[in-house]
Amino acid sequence: MSVEYNIAIVGATGNVGREIIQILEDKNFPVDQLFLLASSRSKGQTIEFKGEKLLVEDLSEFDFSKTQIALFSPGGKISAEFAPKAAKAGCIVIDNTSHFRMKGDVPLIVPEVNAKDLESFFNNDERSNIIANPNCSTIQMVLALKPLHDKAIINRVVVSTYQSVSGAGKDAMDELFNQTKGIYSNNNIEKNKFTKQIAFNVIPHIDSFVENGNTKEEEKMVNETKKIIDEGIKLSATCVRVPVFIGHAESINIEFDSPLSDKDATELLKNFDGVSVIDYRKDEGYITPVEIAGEDKVYVSRIRNDYSVENGLNIWVVADNLRKGAALNAVQIAEILVQKYHSYL
Ligand SMILES: NC(=O)c1ccc[n+]([C@@H]2O[C@H](COP(=O)([O-])OP(=O)(O)OC[C@H]3O[C@@H](n4cnc5c(N)ncnc54)[C@H](OP(=O)(O)O)[C@@H]3O)[C@@H](O)[C@H]2O)c1
Repeated sequence: MSVEYNIAIVGATGNVGREIIQILEDKNFPVDQLFLLASSRSKGQTIEFKGEKLLVEDLSEFDFSKTQIALFSPGGKISAEFAPKAAKAGCIVIDNTSHFRMKGDVPLIVPEVNAKDLESFFNNDERSNIIANPNCSTIQMVLALKPLHDKAIINRVVVSTYQSVSGAGKDAMDELFNQTKGIYSNNNIEKNKFTKQIAFNVIPHIDSFVENGNTKEEEKMVNETKKIIDEGIKLSATCVRVPVFIGHAESINIEFDSPLSDKDATELLKNFDGVSVIDYRKDEGYITPVEIAGEDKVYVSRIRNDYSVENGLNIWVVADNLRKGAALNAVQIAEILVQKYHSYL
């Protein structure tokens, strides 16, 4: 008899939460009962799962002891309060927010890259019961870096991101839509989620600033990459919001400690789980965000050596930030739990 699990989705009405529900259905994940949780504002709404309308419940009234796995994406502050409560009730939490990612007792997992980090987590009787999903920009970057680093050690990375508005939540998508419509119809535009006009513009500012001049989004890319792949990788990031609805793109410059040809890099990337190479060096021979919305892979194009430094390589990396950048990665972690660590659930 196949075993099924009670699963809670926290932030079920949001961009990431809705995508998680869809992926659980698409993958036919072994769900017994699915609990959909959001703020009190959404209590009583319904969301469809496998043809059935499920009621959204108020997170603050929910008892996590009846679930084995909870997938959280309600924002950092809410996760900070409720994820430890769920974990204490014996539920394994997979959290999408940045709140727990750098904590020592919380593994930060991209399944294709470092699923093995879950072994020591489950071997520890004092475990936190919280597993973190990395930042969307980090996930797609480390998937491209890992096969290269396994061949020629990466010393330094310089990355510039082109991040879609869906990365800032459903209200941010509405803001791009409304500003675009407003500009075409000569109406005033409103700014709420973004500090500057996002329609027909780009903004070099994601999350708040820290003292050294970086933004928190840039610091996340630096620190999370070290935790997931190798503390020795030096990384410099500039994170930019662009007027794209879904799909983050990244221009990544890499310096290795030994030579790696673009041809060899292409083969390594082609053979790595979760990565797809589209690179024809001609018109349309590369990937852009609109083409990969709804797709699960991380796409790599424009692979070429950088001859301005010793052992340099440039790549262009694109992925759906709501799927591999958030929901899909979280569900893949949940799949590993039910396949390999079910005795702990
Ligand atoms: N979008 C991405 O690409 C991405 C990628 C990685 C990580 N993340 C992280 O995932 C989190 C959510 O992102 P999102 O894009 O899904 O945001 P979103 O579309 O704005 O959705 C936020 C969700 O959180 C719920 N929520 C807000 N306040 C709550 C409260 N007091 N109690 C319970 N639930 C509450 C909302 O419920 P209501 O509808 O009731 O308000 C909604 O379901 C963020 O921390 C974000 O950084 C996002």
